[in-house]
Amino acid sequence: MTDAKTQSAKTTGIAIQHCINSVCGASFGIRERLYLCRKCGGPLEISSPLPDQREASELRARWKARRGALEPRDRSGVWRFRELLPFDNTAPIVTLGEGNTPLYDAPRCAEYAGLRGLRLKHQGCNPTGSFKDTGMTTAVTQAVLLGARTVVCASTGNTSASLAAYAARAGVQCAILLPRGQITASKLAQSMDYGAIVCEIDGNFDDCMRLIQEITDDPSIYLANSINPFRIEGQKTVAFELMEQCEWRVPDHVVVPGGNMGNSSALGKGFEELQRLGLIDRLPKLSVIQAEGAAPLAHLFADLNSDSAGDRESSIEEIVAVANPQTLATAIKIGSPVSWKKALRSVIRSRGRIIAVSEAEIADAKAMIGRDGIGCEPASATTVAGIRKLSAAGFIRREETVVAVLTGHLLKDPDYVSNYHRGTLSLDSKAKDGGAIPGAFRNEPKRVAANKSAILDELLRNRS
Ligand code: F0G
Repeated sequence: MTDAKTQSAKTTGIAIQHCINSVCGASFGIRERLYLCRKCGGPLEISSPLPDQREASELRARWKARRGALEPRDRSGVWRFRELLPFDNTAPIVTLGEGNTPLYDAPRCAEYAGLRGLRLKHQGCNPTGSFKDTGMTTAVTQAVLLGARTVVCASTGNTSASLAAYAARAGVQCAILLPRGQITASKLAQSMDYGAIVCEIDGNFDDCMRLIQEITDDPSIYLANSINPFRIEGQKTVAFELMEQCEWRVPDHVVVPGGNMGNSSALGKGFEELQRLGLIDRLPKLSVIQAEGAAPLAHLFADLNSDSAGDRESSIEEIVAVANPQTLATAIKIGSPVSWKKALRSVIRSRGRIIAVSEAEIADAKAMIGRDGIGCEPASATTVAGIRKLSAAGFIRREETVVAVLTGHLLKDPDYVSNYHRGTLSLDSKAKDGGAIPGAFRNEPKRVAANKSAILDELLRNRS
């Protein structure tokens, strides 16, 4: 289908926002400023008219060709998939050239996890260093279309850095709510530099999330957390890009970290749309990994009888929040995830799992990702730790194809890295022994005398 035809399908064929609660199912216009269903308070999702299946295969070539073009909306790894986005060609898109991130082979991580191969899709290679940019380009574009004066979010640091950057590009005021003292210095620095109004709150992320929803009653304010379905629309494109990089051969497993659960919801939606278009013939099993001290959805999943999970999922209305979430992976230090329903639905439909991993498992997996020359922030490393656990449990088999989605860049949290390698990484520094994580792959800097032979001695001693 040509761009002009896509455009006319969009204007006549109507993208809508609809409530995912099956008993409600209310629908709303695509330019209504909503975050939750106006009828029942349930989560909203966007349905766009999908191109005809017969024309879908032609899309693959078009999407790929755009990557080499010069126009910003073609080069963007989100907007080059615009046939599947709820915007028409006149939308004033706000882009920083997001997406188009690498898919790496990670042989050391594969061995560590007991697999023949493992690939890492590095969403930390986005303009602000995290996967959030792929959703922020669409959310801020929608904010501009709605005439918002201020865009806002609650954040553990990456959402806010990303929103601040895209708001700056759009020339729109940005205000962010952060839990004071719980954001890494790098993430905070980004938001300050991009000119956001930074409000540090005495409370945790869940408190910030509750407060931010209270202030968005004002129509001049637009909320950009992943509860906003336009964020999910941008973030779902990682599924398209990943399938392109896999030459449209569906991996057996895709594994992501879980915090507020927007990313897992988005990936699930992306794969399901590709299946409906006939571009893939099955869904990869989508699994979500949480940190043990902040794992409300893993707890809920463990309580579901896996045989009847599909039947029960639609009837579960509540999640038991973790009141005081604890983890050194501060990006996912969340006790009450807003998008848990969508994420749970995607995991169950694809027959994946939701599990939790310990602080030591996250830390060692992170160092192993470093050994592959890749690196990531702590939350991202839950994936490799989780894959290792799922492989040991026999859920992932040695010869199966597996992709882990790394969500943030190594330099988002250099203090964590330094503490790990120096043996001072601890979740509970008040513990008697200091509670330090031993670190199986520590690599502490060495003090070496300032002469040639001392340096050469050091090299030889460490040669394998
Ligand atoms: N990884 C990183 C690096 C993150 O920053 C986040 C979430 C996640 C994983 C989890 O993704 O929330 O979609 O399940 N960070 C949010 C923030 C909460 O405010 O930056 P999710």
